[in-house]
Amino acid sequence: MKKLKIGIAGLGTVGRGTFKILTQKTSLLAKRSGAEIEVVAVSARDKSRDRGIQIPSQITWYEDAVKLASDANVEVVVELIGGADGVAYNLVKAALENKKHVVTANKALIAKHGFDLAKIAEKNNVALCFEASVAGGIPALKGIREGLAANKISKICGILNGTCNFIITKMKNENRSFDDVLKEAQALGYAEADPSFDVDGIDAAHKLAVISALAFGIKPNFASIYKEGITKITIDDLKFAEELGYNIRLLGIANETAEGKLEQRVHPCLISSEVPIGNVSGVLGAVLVNTDALGPVFFTGAGAGEMQTASAVVADLVDIAANRARNPWGIATDDMVEGQFVDISHHVGEYYLRFKAKDKDGVLSSITTILAQNGIGFEKVLQKLGSDKTANIILITHDVSESKVMESVDKISKMDYTAEAPVVIRVEAF
Ligand code: HSE
Repeated sequence: MKKLKIGIAGLGTVGRGTFKILTQKTSLLAKRSGAEIEVVAVSARDKSRDRGIQIPSQITWYEDAVKLASDANVEVVVELIGGADGVAYNLVKAALENKKHVVTANKALIAKHGFDLAKIAEKNNVALCFEASVAGGIPALKGIREGLAANKISKICGILNGTCNFIITKMKNENRSFDDVLKEAQALGYAEADPSFDVDGIDAAHKLAVISALAFGIKPNFASIYKEGITKITIDDLKFAEELGYNIRLLGIANETAEGKLEQRVHPCLISSEVPIGNVSGVLGAVLVNTDALGPVFFTGAGAGEMQTASAVVADLVDIAANRARNPWGIATDDMVEGQFVDISHHVGEYYLRFKAKDKDGVLSSITTILAQNGIGFEKVLQKLGSDKTANIILITHDVSESKVMESVDKISKMDYTAEAPVVIRVEAF
């Protein structure tokens, strides 16, 4: 049987999972791909570290990952190091230039260099596969590129960061603090090396840049994405939202506007508790795609984790072995265009507003008057008295523009009854 010889760079969580699947399922993968996928080389920093896997002595070990790119025995480089630049970029670029196929789980790399790298792959007639870079093991990219090839896509909406979803869910369900749950996510191997990438929405934005480029035929554009993380979400807001009939989730959203431009944004959202994506909990991720022929399509599954993300890496290897991996962006790079984006200040939608105010007469009326002066009406209101002579006044507005909301909130924040900075969370309609 034909062989496909691979070199794995990076033996962290995903590298270890990939190695396990390839060595434990050799025969199944051979039947599915028509080739025996064999690991012939690996690279990781510390050879002596116990990773819970046995690396046979005939496998070549490289301290310098970039050397995998010039190993004549390696046909596919699997890059699982991470980072937009540095070693990961040097390795992937050199591998493609040396006419080796590349599989990567590196969302930061693909969000930043995915277009240029695809050009090199195209020129050299080799594959560049990155299914594992978005939503862990969920085959959302394949689903969009292949399964939805007949459709025009108008909106992508995803729970793209497993760590954030894990934190938000556990904070509410177990009444636990943000820091406490973050530590658990780190121990389980979900969090990025620098967890601020998770909780500040950067990781989700990398993934959104990739999936949006694929869905809309544009060059990935990370810089244009509005990014807001989950660090300001409190247990109180999670509970007040629930009382009003919503869940809070960090979503990555790319949608066409009426003017034919694109909105790309990552931020916490209130989602009606009736809507499936708002009920995706824990480390699960999800991608909802609105299409013209098929209608809405919903993918869900593990968004992070060792075997889960490795599942997507190995699926890419099977595609390469079966000789069916081409056009990573679904279209030729010459056909990919620069996106035309709109700024978040033009966003229109409903908003959750929470004002913590001194408990005295006339506060609710003052708040609603200021909102009304900017044309903002509201459909739900909740008032919660605190034990410290303050009250939380929570409103869900009707559709309104972001700039009007921010203008009103700024005015209210300066009133003498305001006890804390107001909270603003967008409500996403489905
Ligand atoms: N830190 C990422 C997450 C890992 O939590 O989703 C998977 O990309």
